[in-house]
Formats: sequence, structure tokens, C-alpha cells
Amino acid sequence: MTAAADDPPRGPLFISFEGVDGSGKSTQARSLAVHLRARGADVTLTREPGGSPGAEEIRALVLNGDAGRWSPETEILLFTAARRDHLERTIRPALARGGIVICDRFADSTRMYQGATRGDLRAMVDALHALMIGVEPDLTFIVDMDPARALARGLARPGAEQRFENMGLAVQEAVRAGYLALARAEPRRCEVVEGDRAEADVAADIARRALRRLAR
Ligand code: TYD
Repeated sequence: MTAAADDPPRGPLFISFEGVDGSGKSTQARSLAVHLRARGADVTLTREPGGSPGAEEIRALVLNGDAGRWSPETEILLFTAARRDHLERTIRPALARGGIVICDRFADSTRMYQGATRGDLRAMVDALHALMIGVEPDLTFIVDMDPARALARGLARPGAEQRFENMGLAVQEAVRAGYLALARAEPRRCEVVEGDRAEADVAADIARRALRRLAR
């Protein structure tokens, strides 16, 4: 039997959103959650670093303070520790009951921010990921935008949690290039979305692509 057009979209499906700081991906993750919930889907909207009480505590450690507060190696351990807790307590239970998980950043963020911006630590990131996490999203939206344009559009968040923004434009540009390379390397999982458009247009594009994947 095929699903009727008005049946609620069903998981398990694990969707992540990635992009440079200020790309608007958090807004887009929220919009997709609203859209799918309106169709009756069981949606868990979550984020990294964070998404579980313990991981939110680690978030405060890694996102606040001086840019040089942690070495990249220590960051890899902290982000992976947060991810493990998030996976155990939030993501796996939601997928196990057949839900749709929408996660604002996941392991690709560690691959880019810790793996490629301050030396080549990608092998270390991948080894720890294989050992401790071992799962990838089914679908990853890479919200693409020139980091300088993102700043000019005023999308970057004001206030605390600025450690990575404070590392400067060159870091953001390396992150963007890394995401585009990832999309080329993993075209079945990753979908690049042009982020420098009206918010509603980006949201409609993402919703259409997510529903197409859910219909498979
Ligand atoms: P986020 O809250 O998504 O910020 P924004 O909404 O501005 O994109 O992420 C906070 C910062 O954490 C962001 O600068 C990227 C960084 N980060 C890493 O460096 N490694 C990671 O593994 C994750 C999940 C995030």
C-alpha cells in the first residue's frame, strides 16, 4: 500500500543542518520542524553542541570564553563527549520510536571546525567519531552562504557564544569550503541549499526536498 498524500510523514529519519555561522540554518531547522509538525509528524528538534542536559553543560564550556581557551584536540574530545550524550539520551530514543530528528549541527561541524580550520586534524576527528558515535544523518542540508555576506546580512548572533565567530573570517571561509567539498564527496546524504535568498524561499525549498526524501 502506498502512503496517501495527507498521511503524516513518518520516520525514522535523521536530518541535520550545517553551515557557516550566521547562515540562517537554525531558523531553517526550526521552520522545517514547524512544517512537518503541521502535517502531523513526530518531530524532535534539537541542536549541537547540546540537545540533552549534560551536553548543554558542555556547550557552555566550549562556546564561551577566549578563542584560545581550548586546543583543537581538547575541543574534539568535548564536542564528541557532548554528542555521545545527545545521541544516547535524545536522538536514538526519538528514532527508535519512529520519529523524525532535526538536528542543528552534528558531526560534520566537528569535521569542519575542529578537523580543518587550525591544522589538519580530520583523521583524529574521524577516528574518534568511528569509535564513539558511528552514525551519520540520513539527510544533511548544507545552508550555503558567503560568510562575509552572512555577517553583512546581520545574521550572526549577537551576545555570548561567540568563540568561533571570533576566530575570524578566514576560519569561516575554510569551513564553507569544507562543507562544499563534503557535499561533493557525499552527494547522496548532503544537499546544498542556497542560503542567500528570502527566508521563506529557502524554507520552501528545504521542505520540498525533505518531503521528497520522506516519501521514499
Ligand atoms: P551554533 O549554535 O550552531 O551557532 P550558529 O547558530 O551561529 O551557527 O554553533 C555554535 C558554534 O559551535 C559554531 O561556531 C560552530 C561550533 N561547533 C564546532 O566548532 N564544532 C562542533 O562539533 C559543533 C557542533 C559546533
